[in-house]
Amino acid sequence: MLAASLMGVAPAQASPTATSSTPLALTPPMGWNDWAHYGCNITESTVVANADALVSTGLAAKGYNTVTVDDCWMARSRNASGHLVADPGKFPHGMAWLGSYLHGRGLKFGIYEDAGTATCGGYPGSGPDHFATDAADFASWGVDYLKLDGCNVQSQPGKSMETTYREAYEAQAAALRNSGRAIIHSVSAPAYFQGGSSWRSVIGWSGQVGQLWREGADIAMYGQGARWGSVMYNYDYNKGLTSFASPGNWNDPDFLIAGDGGLSTDESRSQVALWAMMAAPMILSSDVARVDSTSLAALGNTDLIAVDQDPAGRQASVVASDSSEDTLVKQLSNGDRAVAVVNRTTGTRSMSVPLSSVGMSGCVRAKDLWTGAISNTSSALTASVPAHGTAVWRLSAGGGC
Ligand code: GLA
Repeated sequence: MLAASLMGVAPAQASPTATSSTPLALTPPMGWNDWAHYGCNITESTVVANADALVSTGLAAKGYNTVTVDDCWMARSRNASGHLVADPGKFPHGMAWLGSYLHGRGLKFGIYEDAGTATCGGYPGSGPDHFATDAADFASWGVDYLKLDGCNVQSQPGKSMETTYREAYEAQAAALRNSGRAIIHSVSAPAYFQGGSSWRSVIGWSGQVGQLWREGADIAMYGQGARWGSVMYNYDYNKGLTSFASPGNWNDPDFLIAGDGGLSTDESRSQVALWAMMAAPMILSSDVARVDSTSLAALGNTDLIAVDQDPAGRQASVVASDSSEDTLVKQLSNGDRAVAVVNRTTGTRSMSVPLSSVGMSGCVRAKDLWTGAISNTSSALTASVPAHGTAVWRLSAGGGC
């Protein structure tokens, strides 16, 4: 059943207009996507309930404001005039209505499509010749964010797969620019080249056609058991891509699943801290109303959100690493540095980070971003970190040692 707040749906928001120079996603996108929790089992009421939960939990006000409907929202075929249509059973009011509802709640509307002939779930894709039609329809529905997946991209004679993907994503980018609406473009191309020799090349041009890109494997789905291995796998493929991140260009290691089952409390907190350090998009994929309170606090931790959303747009660098722990340092716009240490082991570890490895010296003020406690040091940061936990601080010069 739809929420009572549906009664007061606002009229469609005036379209933000876009020009080729409109800056988009100057900080990493934040929000929610249904996929890792619900898979194809989505309906309008599920999306509405999660949108309402983003608002009622306070997460929306903290920046988690883009609600994206992933795969399986469409009817199995286009209509007689070649347009995509929402599955009338799942989305009885249609997508323009949904966009209007989300805008009325102060949220943004994201949608999923695919650069190939079919989505990963087998629904009609935008490729190779529906990009303009679909982008125009998305704009008319009030879409603010497009996740363009890369399943079923057909090889073309005489062209490499990289060129084929590039041309498809360029076509989509042009269609979005021509749509007249400012629509963030989330590119999935690099994920289809992970492990191959052209992976970094694909990431490079993804930043020219979109604002964020998935560069590797999907995060484990809800109900698949333990999910920590998946979180660390995605962290590990993402952590070395520092040079690609900048305002308007973000590496996307996939969804935040903190508090959604399959992770311990410390594992959930670690994912939030590591994603914030990596300036990753913070896109929850969970049943928001059922996220446990500790994870909700981690997701809503304004100090961590500030690290993620820092306007300098730098991704943390790994400054020390072994099989037990990684140390990450992120330079922030005001001269501060965020530092995190993740404990990969299954036991509590005493960890020490010398200031020299962080690139700071003298007396430093350190704020523990979990407790808010302030300490001053001129030598090292120390912490006892639980199994799969992460210590995280914000350091400022000029402490009171
Ligand atoms: C791919 C993507 C996922 C999701 C599914 C939908 O696997 O990586 O995030 O969008 O397709 O079918």
